[in-house]
Amino acid sequence: MDAWVATSYAVVSSTASDPRFSSVRYPDIEAVSEELRPLARVLSRQMLYSDAPGHARLRSLLSRAFTPRAVATLRDRISDAVDQIITPAAPTGRLDIVADLARPLPLAVICDLLGVPEQDRPALSSWSDPIAAAIGSSRLDVDDSRAASQSMQQMLAYLRELLTRKDGPPAPHTLRALLATGTENADQDFDELLANCALLLIAGHETTTHFIGNSALALLRHPQAADQLRSRADLIPVAVEELLRYDSPVQLMLRRARRDLDLAGRSITAGQAVLLVCGAANRDPVAFPDPDRLDFQRPGGRHVAFGYGPHFCLGAALARLEGAVVLEALLTRLPDWRLDGASPRWQRSLNFRGLTSLDITFTPSSDNHDTSTQALAT
Ligand code: HEM
Repeated sequence: MDAWVATSYAVVSSTASDPRFSSVRYPDIEAVSEELRPLARVLSRQMLYSDAPGHARLRSLLSRAFTPRAVATLRDRISDAVDQIITPAAPTGRLDIVADLARPLPLAVICDLLGVPEQDRPALSSWSDPIAAAIGSSRLDVDDSRAASQSMQQMLAYLRELLTRKDGPPAPHTLRALLATGTENADQDFDELLANCALLLIAGHETTTHFIGNSALALLRHPQAADQLRSRADLIPVAVEELLRYDSPVQLMLRRARRDLDLAGRSITAGQAVLLVCGAANRDPVAFPDPDRLDFQRPGGRHVAFGYGPHFCLGAALARLEGAVVLEALLTRLPDWRLDGASPRWQRSLNFRGLTSLDITFTPSSDNHDTSTQALAT
C-alpha cells in the first residue's frame, strides 16, 4: 500500500492531530486513474480530506446541525423508526439485525436530517454503496472505480436538484434549511457544499450501520454483558463507548507528511502516507489494559473510534444516540435473542469493519413496546 502503518494508541492519536501531517487524500489528482478521477475530485472538496483553513470553514458551516443539543431533538424520531422495525419482527421470532435494522435506520436518520423524501432514499443508498466500497478498498479495479465515480455524479446531481427545489420551504431544523441559509452567502461555493452533503450521506450511514451490527454481535457473544445492561440501563452510554472501542467500525485514518520528519523514531519523507489504525490503537494494552475484554466499567481511556483532533467525527453525537436507542430497544424487547446458525459474515473492506448480515432468533411475542421503553426512561 506504499504507506507506513501506525498501530499504537500514542502514535495514532498524536499523529491524527499533528499539524505536520495533512489529510489531503489525493495530492496529485492527475496521478489518479482516469476512472477514479471524477470521484477523487469530489472527495478532495470534502472537509474530511481538507486541511486548515478550508477545513474549519466547512466544518463550522455544517456543524450546527450536529451539536449534541441539535441531535438530542432526534431521539423520538429515532425511537419511532426502531419501533417500526422491531414491532413487525417481534411476532416472527427472527430478525437480520444488519439488513432489517442497522442498514435502513441510519440512512433514514441522515435523510431526515438532509430533508430527503422517503421515495428517494433507496436511490441514495444504491449510490452510496459503491462510493463507500471505493473509499474502503486498498485496490480498486477499473469497473469498481468507474461505478464509484458514476455513483458520485448521480448523487451530486440529485443533491443539486434537492437543494434548489422550489416546492416550498424546507422543513425547519433540517440540514436543507441550514444550507438554504448557507447558500445565500455568495462566497459559499455551491459545488463544495454539495460535495460535503454527499460526505454526510455516506459517512452518516455506512459507519453507523457497522457500529450497530458489531455492537449487537459483541453483546450476543457476551450474554453476561447484555444482562448487565438490561438491569442497568444507566450503563448504556458507557457501553456505547466500550463497544466502539472493542470493535471499531472505522479501522483506518490516512495522513500524509507535509515535510520530512521523524515519527516514533522512524524517518518519514515528505508526501509519504501513514495509515493510523484506529482498530489497533483501541486494543493497545498500554492504553487499555486487558484490551480484548469487553468491560463496561473499564477505567479511563478515550477510544479513537471517532478519530482524534480537528477531524474528530462530526456525527459522533448522532451515532452515539442511534447506537444507544437501538441497544436499549434490542435488549429490552428481544430479551432472549440468540445468534441464528452460521457464523456472521463480514463485509470485504480494508477500512470499514462490519457485517453483511446478522441473523438472530428469539421467542415470538406481540409485546407492547411502550412498557419497555417507558421502563427504561424511568
Ligand atoms: C459509529 C459511527 C461512526 C464512526 C465510527 C465514525 C468515524 C469517524 C472517524 C474515525 C472520523 C475521522 C477520520 C479522520 O480523521 O481521518 C470521522 C469523521 C467524520 N465523520 Fe464520522 N463516524 C461515524 C458516524 C458519523 C455520522 C453519523 C456522521 C454524519 C452524520 C459522520 C460524519 C463525519 C464527518 C463529516 C467527518 C469529517 C469531520 C472532519 O473532517 O472534520 N460520521 N468519522
